Formats: sequence, structure tokens, C-alpha cells
Amino acid sequence: MKKILVTGGAGYIGSHTVVELTEAGYTPIILDNFSNSEERALEGIAAILGKEVPCYRTDCTDAVALREVFEQEPGIAGVIHFAAYKAVGESVAEPLKYYSNNLGSMLTLLQVMEEYKVNKLVFSSSCTVYGIPEKLPVTEQTPVQKANSPYGNTKKICEEILTDLADSGSNMRTIALRYFNPIGAHPSARIGELPLGVPNNLVPFITQTAAGIRQELTIFGDDYDTADGTCVRDYVHVVDLAKAHVVAIERLLSGKAANIEFFNVGTGTGNTVLEAVKAFERATGKKLNYKIGPRRPGDVPKIFADVTKATVELGFKTTSTLEEAMQSAWDWQLHLEETSTKA
Ligand code: WQD
Repeated sequence: MKKILVTGGAGYIGSHTVVELTEAGYTPIILDNFSNSEERALEGIAAILGKEVPCYRTDCTDAVALREVFEQEPGIAGVIHFAAYKAVGESVAEPLKYYSNNLGSMLTLLQVMEEYKVNKLVFSSSCTVYGIPEKLPVTEQTPVQKANSPYGNTKKICEEILTDLADSGSNMRTIALRYFNPIGAHPSARIGELPLGVPNNLVPFITQTAAGIRQELTIFGDDYDTADGTCVRDYVHVVDLAKAHVVAIERLLSGKAANIEFFNVGTGTGNTVLEAVKAFERATGKKLNYKIGPRRPGDVPKIFADVTKATVELGFKTTSTLEEAMQSAWDWQLHLEETSTKA
């Protein structure tokens, strides 16, 4: 079974992708420095799969340690690269931490991949590369703009590095997946988005408010030019997103991929924040305590994906509804409560 190295494989999207890779018949190898993930993610993965997945506690910026992994795991067929810092707000406060880690890990990984003649890469990119789009929905041809944060800029620069590498005649074959807003958790509720501190993102804040951990949700602005004045996003179930990575690695291994390809991974539907809140309430039957507050600086008013390219060229479409994603997020929150009270 083909070995796939998953950097950041103990993280939110990484752990879900490790499950889907295994269920698709691949042999994932996790590499994670646990700077933004916890051991219990490995336990959750094992509980779902009924077996442990090998994990190397390694930092991708450490070339010596990375070579060690490639030495111990001969025959890696491809790499899925998630390992990066991803908190937009933190990146504004600590830009150098983001540039050195996110660019450093990308460059070190590419160098070691070339040394070990591993030339298939799926890169975790982001819709943040589109900045504030002029036209909606965004296609892969929508102009990439200066990102709103150092985090988003590291994704844009990584795409440029990979494009220059592809244009240099290198035999590296890359697929960059531009995620929209990943939400929800595995239906088993054994893996999900780990709450590290006060959540920046909407859905963990919703579930923690519903659980009584947070007093109330503040909706950041209701004076945007949208159906109900709140921002529009494309909320994609994390399991659908994980499945897109399996399809991408299969395309690379089939030899059909060009030197570098970009795909939007979203549902193709935009929902406002208020619609997301109502979907949570409908799915769970929980009434959410929220108020309208001021806009959050840097927020993109509206963005959602045109998913034609992934549908036609990857044969990939999301299947989960917003309600199902919200229900899974709530089930995960309940699991966290249960296990933390037991601990
Ligand atoms: C969503 C909406 C907020 C919290 C994220 C990631 C980014 C990228 C895209 C991967 C916005 C509103 C939020 C709250 C709110 N993903 N909101 N109250 O900003 O779209 O970006 O997805 O690369 O990395 O950060 O996601 O969940 O923070 O916000 O009203 O307490 O919810 O204003 O409109 P965002 P988010």
C-alpha cells in the first residue's frame, strides 16, 4: 500500500485526511511537531481506524530530522503538506514567526523531497490568496491578491515557490488545494478541531457558546452588502475537504497532473454568518446566544468558491450539508466535554 507522508497529520485537517487516506487503502505516515495539535488526535485516529498510524514528532524546518524520517520510511510515494501556523490574528502580531515557520518548512521539505526523489506533493493552500475578490464566485483564475495577513501571504508565497519550481523543469508535481472555510468534525466525534485558547474561528465559538463555555457569540458586523448584512463564507465539511486530498494524491500518482495545478475546495455555496448560526440551531435544536458587534478588521465581506474545476478535472464534489457539518461540530464539542470531565 502506497506510503503517504502527512506533515501536520495530527492537526485538524491533517487528522481527518489521515483517516480518509487509510480508508482509501493508502498507508499514511504522520509527521507533526505538536505545536498546534495534541497526542489525543492520534488516539482518536486509532479509535476510528482500529489501528495506530506511525507518527514522527518532527519539525519540518529541521532538515536533519526530516531526512531521518525519509531514511526510516523508504518508498514514500507522495507528501501532503499541512504543517504550518494558521492563526490569522497571531500572524499580524508575529509576522516573523509565520514567515520563518511556514516558508522554512516548505523550503526544507522541498529540499529533502528532492534529495529522496519524492516528487508528488499536495499543498494546503487557502482562499485567503484571493484577498477581497472583485467577482464572485471565485474561480482558480481569479487574480491572486496581496493577502490580508502574513498568514495568507505565506500561502501566496508558497504557491509562488511551487510555481517557480514547476517552471524550472523540476520533476516535482504539485497540486495546491485552496480551502474555503473548513468546519465540523468526523462523524465518530473522535477527532475534530482542538480548542486551543479562545477560538478565532466562527464555528468553534458557536459550539463553545452553546456549551456554556462562552457567554455569547459576537457577530462581527451586520452592515455589509449581503442578504442580511453579515459576511458570506463557503463553509466546507472537514471530511469532504479531507476526501479532496485523497483525490488529489490519486491524480498525482496516476501521472495525469501537470507540473502544478490549483483547485478550489469549497461547496460552491455562500452562507452568511447569521445563516450559519441558524443552521446550527436547526441542526442541534440549541438556541444560540449572540449579539451583533462591530466589524472585525481584515474580514473579507463576501467570498465563496466556483467549484467547476474540481468537479470536472478531479471528479470531486462535497456531499455534506451545512446542517450536517454543524451537527458534527456539536457532537465533537459534546465529546470534548465528556472526555474532559472524565479526565
Ligand atoms: C468566518 C466569519 C467572521 C468569529 C478562516 C481561516 C483562514 C482561512 C479561511 C484557511 C467571518 C465571523 C467569526 C466570531 C464572527 N482558512 N465571525 N464572530 O476569517 O473566514 O478565515 O477561513 O486557510 O485561515 O481563518 O474564518 O471563522 O474566523 O470567520 O462573526 O466570533 O465569521 O467575521 O465573517 P475566516 P472565521
